[in-house]
Amino acid sequence: MSTVKDQLLENLIAEDKTSQRKITIIGTGAVGMACAISILLKDLADELALTDIAADKLKGETMDLQHGSLFFHTSKIVSGEDYSVSANSKLVIVTAGARQQEGESRLALVQRNVDIMKTIIPPIVRHSPDCKILIVSNPVDILTYVVWKISGLPVSRVIGSGCNLDSARFRYLIGEKLGVHPTSCHGWIIGEHGDSSVPLWSGVNVAGVALKNLNPKLGTDSDKEQWKNVHRQVVDSAYEIIKMKGYTSWAIGLSVTDLAGSILKNLRRVHPVSTMVKGLYGIKEDIFLSVPCVLGQNGISDVVKVTLNPEEEALFKKSADTLWDIQKGIIF
Ligand SMILES: NC(=O)c1ccc[n+]([C@@H]2O[C@H](COP(=O)([O-])OP(=O)(O)OC[C@H]3O[C@@H](n4cnc5c(N)ncnc54)[C@H](O)[C@@H]3O)[C@@H](O)[C@H]2O)c1
Repeated sequence: MSTVKDQLLENLIAEDKTSQRKITIIGTGAVGMACAISILLKDLADELALTDIAADKLKGETMDLQHGSLFFHTSKIVSGEDYSVSANSKLVIVTAGARQQEGESRLALVQRNVDIMKTIIPPIVRHSPDCKILIVSNPVDILTYVVWKISGLPVSRVIGSGCNLDSARFRYLIGEKLGVHPTSCHGWIIGEHGDSSVPLWSGVNVAGVALKNLNPKLGTDSDKEQWKNVHRQVVDSAYEIIKMKGYTSWAIGLSVTDLAGSILKNLRRVHPVSTMVKGLYGIKEDIFLSVPCVLGQNGISDVVKVTLNPEEEALFKKSADTLWDIQKGIIF
C-alpha cells in the first residue's frame, strides 16, 4: 500500500538518525523540566531524551513538550523508563533524586540520593560511554564525587553544577544593590554549593573597578554597608524559595542550560562548577568543590588558579572538611 508519506516524499537518501548534539535529562521533576524547556528554547540540542522512574509523569511531561515542537528547533524529543533512550548522548544531566524538604539541609539528603545514583549511572555510561555527566541533584558536590566513583569516567567528564547558581544569585543581588545588570557585576562564589560556600569579595568588580578598593571592609562584619548580607541572602535563598513554592526550578534550569551551552558549543567559558579539588589549597581527600573551571566539549579542561587570601582559604578548607565528614560515611 502506498502511504501518504510515500506519495508526498520522494526519498533520495536514507535518513541519518545519529544525533550530533543529544542531551539526556534524568529526572522529570521541577528541576529537570526547567532544564528541558530552557535547553529547548536555546536550541542547544538536536535530540532531547528524558527519563524518570515515574512512568505517567514522564509520559505526560514528554507529550506536553512534544506538542510545543512547532515553537522550537529540536527535531526529536524522546523518552522512556529504559536507559537505552539515552544512547549516544553528548551530555547527560542528572536531576533525579529525593528533593530537599522544608528546613532539610542538602547534606541530610545524601545516602538516599547515593542509592539512586547507583541505579542510574551504570546504564547511562553503558549507553553513552563518551558522554559528559552534569550532576544537579543535591547534595551536588558529594553526588558529583559519588557519580565519578560509580561511573569510572575521567574526572574531566563528571561535572557538578556546584556554585554556578550561587554565583548567579550573587551577581543578581549585587546588581540589585548597585542598579546595574548582573552581566556587568562580576563576582564568584566557590566551595560548597550551599551552606558553607565562599564568596570571593576581593574579585567583586564592575568594569574592572574592584568594590573592595572603594570599601576595604567589603564583606566583613565591620562593613557599615553590610555587603556580607548579600552572601547571606544567597545561602538562604533556596530555603526561602522552597518554603514559599516548595522547590526551586527556574534559575537552576537557566544556569544548567548555560553550562550545557559551554559544553555543547565548546565555548571554553569559565564557570564556577564542582570538580575534584584534591591537591588544591591543601586539600588531601577526594573532594569535589566549585572552583572556576574552563568548560568545553571535553568537559572540564582547566581550573583557574585563584589566589585566595588566608581567610578565604580557611573557609574553603572548612567546606572540604564538612563534606569529607559526610563523604567518608557513604556506603557504596
Ligand atoms: N544543584 C542545584 O543548584 C540545585 C538546585 C535546585 C534543586 N536541586 C536538586 O535537584 C534535585 C531535583 O529536584 P526537583 O525539585 O526536580 O525534585 P522532584 O522531586 O520534582 O523531581 C525528582 C525526580 O526524580 C525522579 N526520580 C527519583 N528517583 C529516580 C530514579 N531512581 N531514577 C529516575 N528518576 C528518579 C522522581 O520521579 C522525580 O520526578 C534535588 O536533589 C534538588 O535538591 C539542585
